[in-house]
Amino acid sequence: MATTPKYLQIRERLMERLTTMTAETALPQERELADEFEVSRATVRQALQSLSDDGLIYSIRGKGTFAAADRISKGDSLSSFSEDMRGRGLIPSSRVLTTEERESTPTVARALELEPGSPVYYVERLRLADGFPMALEELYLPANLFPKLLTLDLSSSIYGVMGERYRIKVTAARQRITALNVSGRTADLLGVPARSAALSVAREGIDARGRLVEHAVSVYRSDRYDFELSTRRL
Ligand code: GLP
Repeated sequence: MATTPKYLQIRERLMERLTTMTAETALPQERELADEFEVSRATVRQALQSLSDDGLIYSIRGKGTFAAADRISKGDSLSSFSEDMRGRGLIPSSRVLTTEERESTPTVARALELEPGSPVYYVERLRLADGFPMALEELYLPANLFPKLLTLDLSSSIYGVMGERYRIKVTAARQRITALNVSGRTADLLGVPARSAALSVAREGIDARGRLVEHAVSVYRSDRYDFELSTRRL
């Protein structure tokens, strides 16, 4: 009778444990898991790799392995602009305003955990819903992860481009929402009077392998947009 490979048995046990863990909390270290399950570290590594390939966990070099966020949110909170708009019955589109390669500033480097000065692609787009301005969005993407990005059409979903062209999927994110008043060019592009209230949403997108793949700042018109958040008590 064929027996289930050791690493799949460990994978099963880890999956059970993941159902009791909060997203983004750390799993025990490889060595501890090997002791606990009485298997070799190589077997544990293989089990972890297979969970990571399925997007259930992600690792950050030097920090450890973590339960992935999309495991519990199941697509209800980590959406792209395009998905978010379609979910509201609106048709998403974009006007690409600026695309260029830049050296990362200290702020961008910190957000993406890069060396300051490392090349990033900067993409600025006006995001529209049913043809009307909804948000002004600035994206910073590590250039080494997205070779030739700026030669592509970036007027539709960037998450679509990441998945189809680079096989990179944003499965977790850190987000900060702040209130602000917009003026000058931002207000003009959004089509609102100077000093109008707006919502700024900053996101660091993390892929299934635990890499920081985007730093984005989207400034939404607050008369057209509200931020929906699902939470639950664990
Ligand atoms: C939202 C997020 C951004 C993300 C964007 C992708 O606006 N705040 O961080 O880059 O969605 O949207 P799309 O795939 O439609 O370009």
